[in-house]
Amino acid sequence: MLRKCNFCGSYESEENPLIAGDGVYICKNCVISAYQILFGEEEEEESSENFDVELFSPKELKAILDEYVIGQERAKKIFSVAVYNHYKRLFKQQAVEDDTEIAKSNVLMIGPTGSGKTLMAQTMAKFLDVPLAISDATSLTEAGYVGEDVENILTRLIQAADGDIKKAERGIVFIDEIDKISRLSENRSITRDVSGEGVQQALLKIIEGSVVNVSTKGGRKHPNQDFVQIDTSNILFICAGAFDGLSEIIKRRVGGNVLGFNQEKKSKMDEEKLLDFVEPDDLVKYGLIPELIGRLHMIATLNQLTKDDFIKILTEPKNALVKQYKKLFAIDDVELTFEKEAIEAIANLAIKRKTGARGLRAIMEEIMVDIMFELPEYRGYEIIITKDVIEKKEKPILIKKNIKKSA
Ligand SMILES: Nc1ncnc2c1ncn2[C@@H]1O[C@H](COP(=O)(O)OP(=O)(O)O)[C@@H](O)[C@H]1O
Ligand SMILES: [Mg+2]
Repeated sequence: MLRKCNFCGSYESEENPLIAGDGVYICKNCVISAYQILFGEEEEEESSENFDVELFSPKELKAILDEYVIGQERAKKIFSVAVYNHYKRLFKQQAVEDDTEIAKSNVLMIGPTGSGKTLMAQTMAKFLDVPLAISDATSLTEAGYVGEDVENILTRLIQAADGDIKKAERGIVFIDEIDKISRLSENRSITRDVSGEGVQQALLKIIEGSVVNVSTKGGRKHPNQDFVQIDTSNILFICAGAFDGLSEIIKRRVGGNVLGFNQEKKSKMDEEKLLDFVEPDDLVKYGLIPELIGRLHMIATLNQLTKDDFIKILTEPKNALVKQYKKLFAIDDVELTFEKEAIEAIANLAIKRKTGARGLRAIMEEIMVDIMFELPEYRGYEIIITKDVIEKKEKPILIKKNIKKSA
């Protein structure tokens, strides 16, 4: 005889077994719904408090950055702490019961072009699985001027969250070239307000945390477009810029022997070290409004990458260019080898280009494209890239692989 559930009437099955009572039966599905009716609310509350974000420790976060970002130890540390604090504030604020409110700690990254500022934010966002919107401050304008409204940053974030406002409200906004909207900047567009201050004010409004009406469609505001409201108080803002000339301002302030360096040592102290001493006042002198700086609590400075860093970038990260090319070649049964001197030559070229690590890919591509054009013909060969190949004096060395590797 087939037994059935006395609650819902469904028959016993492998997926839906019955629990027997005194002459009655209840199926698994009914037990689950009964549990949800009795305890469901509690369970839901818990999950919305933690969302689905696990809190990673600052060390864990930095370990993730280490996999992709070479050098920049101090900046990685600061950034990890900032992200940790941000999500702690977001999800665990209630863990200690008092009425202290933890302020949002947005981040300012100062460092030369191609030193890993964007990469750091991208790596973190990908790992945390939160939406990330990257905007360029130079394209922003105050409402009413030609260009992009500051609110568009949020539109982009909502798009990155696939339209999920709740998700967007816990996302990360990265604003690049923030130094270019400073009052002193020469990079101003003619169509924007003269000082850049208007844009800073507009940015301040969203960074401090407010409920903003944004168009879901992007583009300029228009009366018959759809608007949604987004609360920015839990969005982590990361502003970044190269801040050329900032070290001069710091040098002037630090002056004499304030740091205890004697004259000789001080003259050797390079610009980079100076940047580590940056204070809010220096940024005000640079032309950022104090209110905005006041919202960027954590300042991380990144160094100019060195030749050694470039070599590591080419070979070490999970997605290092050399590893990527080796794999691309291996698919065609070609073994790709870079001589140590060749890697160094690429690093040297990148230093000459002064575009930071960004130059590495361009240099690599220039060299590899000719080889890849003929790649399928090299099946079964080893290709050795020498220094002379990089310097375009020689063709790569080809060696027939004698031991046929199994796929
Ligand atoms: N510290 C770094 N470690 C590894 N790769 C880097 C680093 N800095 C830059 N890169 C490489 O250079 C590219 C450009 O870097 P990016 O982070 O966009 O520079 P920026 O500091 O100008 O924002 C990255 O996509 C990455 O491939
Ligand atoms: Mg960048």
